Amino acid sequence: MAMASKILRSGYRRNCRIYIQTVFQSAFRSISPEPSIISHHYSHRTSSSRSLFGIAFDIDGVLLRGSKPIEGAPEALSQLYENAQPRVPFVFLTNGGGVLESKKAFELSQLLGVVVSETQVLLGHTPFRKLVNSYGGVRTLAVGKGEPASVLSGYGFQDVVSLDEYAFEHDDIDPLKQYKTWAPIRTAYSSQQREKKIGAVFVVSDPIDWGQDIQVICDVLRSGGEPENESGPQPPLFFAADDFLYQSLFPIARFGMGAFRLALESIFTRLTGNPLIYTSFGKPQASVYKDAERTLQHLASEIIFKDIKFPSPDNLKEGLNTTYMIGDNPYTDICGARAAGAPWYSILVRTGCFKGKENDKCFPAGCRQCTRSSRIYIAARRCMLNFFSTSILSL
Ligand code: G3P
Ligand code: MG
Repeated sequence: MAMASKILRSGYRRNCRIYIQTVFQSAFRSISPEPSIISHHYSHRTSSSRSLFGIAFDIDGVLLRGSKPIEGAPEALSQLYENAQPRVPFVFLTNGGGVLESKKAFELSQLLGVVVSETQVLLGHTPFRKLVNSYGGVRTLAVGKGEPASVLSGYGFQDVVSLDEYAFEHDDIDPLKQYKTWAPIRTAYSSQQREKKIGAVFVVSDPIDWGQDIQVICDVLRSGGEPENESGPQPPLFFAADDFLYQSLFPIARFGMGAFRLALESIFTRLTGNPLIYTSFGKPQASVYKDAERTLQHLASEIIFKDIKFPSPDNLKEGLNTTYMIGDNPYTDICGARAAGAPWYSILVRTGCFKGKENDKCFPAGCRQCTRSSRIYIAARRCMLNFFSTSILSL
């Protein structure tokens, strides 16, 4: 078994080396970095101890804009596969969401043309799973686009109501309802369920109807979870992310969940005189990077040991030397990777929120020690293939 382990380990390293070699060669064709940089990267490429790396891809503004793949993204991802199996451990680390990880994996497979497993998908709301022990039994209000209630139910929350359903349960709570042309979603809740107060509010994904949503959330928070009451202690409030802006199809970045949170906070404080008490998840929170690191390590072990039935604990000890965060938003992707420290190393692309020519001033990509002037840490090409080349060169 020791021999098999050695062979497989060297196989993984060889694959990694081939991958780096490919991008190195392609980079060599497409850009001309300074000779000292080339020799530096080359020495990394040839060192097997440096070969174990993983990649975390941001989605919006890096791989997709809306539901459109960014030019070259599918081809770039396909480089990470061999015989339809990933040969480099990588995950999708996004602050977006609205559907379960399994459904998102399916959607990404369709859009990007590669096989994506549920394990590779880390969404803004994925950490909500950890809150089931505390809030799984209370009536929970789920807010946002997509299927926010199904997400929480899928995580094990027992009594979930979406904000749209909740608004439907409460006559006249939205005075503008008659002007809204879309049909309300209706679920048959028992009167016993309806009488239960809301014990926690989860903003799972970007809210759609800000007017209705801010009104109803304020009603719930102000009243201790029973809108008919005048006041009560604020139930816990959780946001899956706090992005002020994110890149969609429109050329200028759009308001994200953080912008919604600011609007809600301002109105809630004006209404009650109290500060809004909330917890936000998603990048740049350190725990997100820890979770991603664990997943990448697990995927690396799977790649290394896929043919070994009973790997020993020693086999699984080998750690990743570097985990790359490839993102378009300095305030989330890069800020978080910098704060997480080693083995994280951030790469900033220009296909999304960030449009600057030099590295970002507040949260420069690279590692903590990197200087602000290091242009090599920014992917300058619109095309993801070239982007990969320049990115991995900055090892
Ligand atoms: O709604 C999605 C947005 O907030 C950020 O997505 O993939 O750039 O982290 P992403
Ligand atoms: Mg992004």
